[in-house]
Amino acid sequence: MGQALAGAFLKAGHPTTVWNRTASKADRLVAEGARRARSVGDAIGAGSLTVVCLTDYPAVRELLDADGVDLDGAMLVNLTSGDSAQAREAARWAERRGARYLDGAIMAVPPAIGTAEAMILHSGAQADFEAHASALGALGTVTYLGADHGLASLYDVAGLAMMWSVLNAWLQGTALLRTAGVDAGTFAPFARQIAAGVAEWLPGYAEQIDSGSFPAEVSALETDARAMAHLIEESEAVGVNAELPRLIKAMADRAIAAGHGKEQYPVLIEEFGKPAGD
Ligand SMILES: NC(=O)c1ccc[n+]([C@@H]2O[C@H](COP(=O)([O-])OP(=O)(O)OC[C@H]3O[C@@H](n4cnc5c(N)ncnc54)[C@H](OP(=O)(O)O)[C@@H]3O)[C@@H](O)[C@H]2O)c1
Repeated sequence: MGQALAGAFLKAGHPTTVWNRTASKADRLVAEGARRARSVGDAIGAGSLTVVCLTDYPAVRELLDADGVDLDGAMLVNLTSGDSAQAREAARWAERRGARYLDGAIMAVPPAIGTAEAMILHSGAQADFEAHASALGALGTVTYLGADHGLASLYDVAGLAMMWSVLNAWLQGTALLRTAGVDAGTFAPFARQIAAGVAEWLPGYAEQIDSGSFPAEVSALETDARAMAHLIEESEAVGVNAELPRLIKAMADRAIAAGHGKEQYPVLIEEFGKPAGD
C-alpha cells in the first residue's frame, strides 16, 4: 500500500521522499523520481506532509518513537488500519511530541490508489485536513469526517460490517439456490437487485433510528421473524449452513420478547447497540 500511495503522489507531480524498512521495496519509486530518505527522521524532515502506512499501530509507534525521530512541527497523516481507540491514542501521542496528526482509513486496494474509486477517510482537526486536502486528493476520493480522530477507523469497520454482511447474505442465498441447480451467476443479478432495493430503504430507516420511533409503516418485526423461520427451515431441509439465519432470528426474537414485535425492523438497533446477551 505504501508503494501505491507514494506512486500516486509522484504521478500527481508532488516531490516525494520515501522510506521503507526493507529499502529495496522503494527501488521502483526511486527509479520513477522519488527521493530515498536515509532514515525515518530524514523522511519526516523532507516535506510539509508525512504519510505513514504500516501493518498496524504498534509498528507505527515503534518506528516513530525511535531515537533520531523528531516529530516537532511535523504534519502526520496515518493511513494504517486500526481501531478508534488506537487512532485517538496515536493522536494524543503525536501531539505530545509537537506534531499535528490526522488519522485516516483506506477503503480501497492498492491498484485503485490514485483514482477516484479509492475511498480514503480522514478525521482530526478540520484546519489540518483543509490545509492538506489538495495533496491528499492525489490518493483518491478523500472525505473529512470530523474532529474526533477515531471516526475514520469507526467508519472503516462500519463499512466492513456492511460489506461482509451483504456478501454473507448473498452466499447464503447462493448456497440455497445451488441445491436446486441454480448457479451463482444466475442468482447474482437477482441478488444485486435485492441489495439495491434494500439500500433504498436506508435513509427512511435512519430517520426512524435517529428519532427513536419505529412505526410499522410497511411491515412489523414479528412478520419478518416468521419469514426468518422459513429461511432457517429451508436451509436445514436442503442441508446448507443455517448459522447465519439462526443468528438473525435470535436477535429478532430478543427484540420481540422485549415488546418490539409490532414495530418496524430498524428497532433492532437496540439489540445491535449493546453487547450480546445483555
Ligand atoms: N493492501 C490492501 O489492500 C489494504 C487496503 C486497505 C488498507 N490497508 C492497510 O494498509 C496498511 C498496510 O498494508 P499493506 O497491504 O501495505 O501491508 P504489507 O504489504 O504487509 O506492508 C506493511 C508495511 O509495514 C512495514 N512495517 C511493518 N512493521 C514495521 C516495523 N515494525 N517497522 C517498520 N516498518 C514496518 C513493512 O515494512 P517491510 O517492507 O520492511 O516489511 C511494510 O512496508 C495496513 O494497515 C492495511 O490494513 C491495506
